[in-house]
Amino acid sequence: MWYRELLSWYGENKRDLPWRSERPDPYHVWVSEIMLQQTRVEAVKDHYRRFIKAFPDVRALAGADTDAVLKYWEGLGYYSRARNLKAGAGQVMEEYGGQIPNSAAELKKIKGIGEYTACAIASIAFGEKCAAIDGNLLRIFARLTAYKENIRTQKARQEAERYFLGQMPENGLPGVYGDMNQALMDLGAEICVPVRQENGPDCGRCPLAGSCRAYGTGTERSLPVIPEKKSRRIQELTVFVIRDNDRFVLRQRPGKGLLAGLYEFPNVEGFADRKEALHCIEELGFSPVRIMELPEAVHQFTHVEWRMKGYAVWVDDLSPAKAGENGCFAATAGEISEKYSIPSAFGAYRPSTW
Ligand code: ADE
Repeated sequence: MWYRELLSWYGENKRDLPWRSERPDPYHVWVSEIMLQQTRVEAVKDHYRRFIKAFPDVRALAGADTDAVLKYWEGLGYYSRARNLKAGAGQVMEEYGGQIPNSAAELKKIKGIGEYTACAIASIAFGEKCAAIDGNLLRIFARLTAYKENIRTQKARQEAERYFLGQMPENGLPGVYGDMNQALMDLGAEICVPVRQENGPDCGRCPLAGSCRAYGTGTERSLPVIPEKKSRRIQELTVFVIRDNDRFVLRQRPGKGLLAGLYEFPNVEGFADRKEALHCIEELGFSPVRIMELPEAVHQFTHVEWRMKGYAVWVDDLSPAKAGENGCFAATAGEISEKYSIPSAFGAYRPSTW
């Protein structure tokens, strides 16, 4: 067992993160773990602080307006996480009398909380002996045990879980299981990193090198085994940043599908040349006085890649009565920054004055 080496390394090297404390609050752990899924710690920190300030407890989040919650999520992506978090808070208020349940088994019944998050909350906030298996722990497992099969399978997950549980002491002191999970997350983020990240794994600094079969056999750079990713569908879009002196045109996306319910600059499928662009803008109900091409941009989602070109379009007057058709409306930069969440996918087209 290598838990002593791991915990003593963690004691000296743990990252100072805003949701970490001597007595972790389950709501804080829940919010942070949801934000951290698929998102790097650095991007999460400030969002986390602002979110907790705006929605300090489960009751506040459950009672909040969905658009406000999405606004605080702006920039983190994968917005269904925010919707589920709010729905989960509602569930805790209604079904659990406002008390976040204290076991992984019960936590899994809450919307948006899967195996990983349930174990992270249960171990960090409630001291349960539970292994929070995410991509970091799978990679560490594959290297420590020189696991040569695909790690993106249920079988690998179960084997990793069995392995880590086997490394956890019985009847550990309070905090030991949560600390082990967090230590492994830090190790995966800083030392046992993927081959493609920075210079790859830094085994010289790893507290577990002495127990690592991959390191022992010099195979750390060929593990874990990950199948090739399916390629993304490519979608071309033309984005229109339509404005007068102080307002910009926005539109709400449909309630279902990619970036559901968020706000966007009006856009059409395909790459429109100037003439086609003018035609589209007129169809949307606007009369351009000037049009300027904007740089191309690319944004990758999990399953789709957007390739975008854009036009800045000036119109005379976007007073509310003339905000156009097809669900378009006009808002000032101030209103947009307060109320409307625009996904980072459109980041290249945000005017520099916002
Ligand atoms: N990644 C996911 N959860 C984390 C946590 N609690 N600490 C550090 N990195 C994480």
